[in-house]
Amino acid sequence: MANLGVNIDHVATIRQARRTYEPDPVWAAVLAELGGADCITLHLREDRRHIQDRDLRLLRETVTVKLNLEMACSEEIVAIACQVKPDQATLVPERREEITTEGGLDVVRHRDQVARTIDALRSAGISISLFLDPDDKQLETAAALGADAVELHTGQYALAPPGPHQQQQLDILIKAGKLVRQMGLALHAGHGLTYRNVRPVADIEGMHELNIGHSIVARAVMVGFQQAVREMKLLVS
Ligand code: PXP
Repeated sequence: MANLGVNIDHVATIRQARRTYEPDPVWAAVLAELGGADCITLHLREDRRHIQDRDLRLLRETVTVKLNLEMACSEEIVAIACQVKPDQATLVPERREEITTEGGLDVVRHRDQVARTIDALRSAGISISLFLDPDDKQLETAAALGADAVELHTGQYALAPPGPHQQQQLDILIKAGKLVRQMGLALHAGHGLTYRNVRPVADIEGMHELNIGHSIVARAVMVGFQQAVREMKLLVS
């Protein structure tokens, strides 16, 4: 059984569309905990497109399960993380022009920068997860860098149509998961997971944590829409 990390970024995306106070990702985190979330995940991006500094501070005070901060290896964000002290930092690549994180962090290419970031975060008592493509060289470098966990990027699996291509992507994740566990790191996975495609990934041996955002927020809008309209209808009629 994998732990569920609920990524609340897109609750903040809706709020930022109007730069207003609702919906508040802090409320969403409370509801996620009530729903059984084992972990609350958020990404404080350098461009602050969704989660704001205030959200991170309040979530640190209110979340009672594990708080997982996705972040780039940027000096500004590292300084904030060391001050706020989430339980876990998941290091991800970040490009301003991307719609969402598009691939794993290249820890082979950026080894020195990642090592410096890990040192700084670790000295603040924060556990380290690295978001990586299921590639042996990346995974071995993560172990050499002393990461506590690897979050396998499931984007290619999620994009594959059901059938042999999807199975091929799943097999790549299974093989990578085995290597991660053999090296003694905790196994996490995420990106693009949905109600339809999550089960085989949750079933990968040793899977410890799944981080899921967009699909949960999308479903929340749909399952809550009828009641929200009913409440407004009562007010206006
Ligand atoms: N894990 C990581 C490292 C991510 O960057 C994201 C997206 O913020 C997720 C998981 C969640 O992806 P999705 O929103 O597609 O479920």
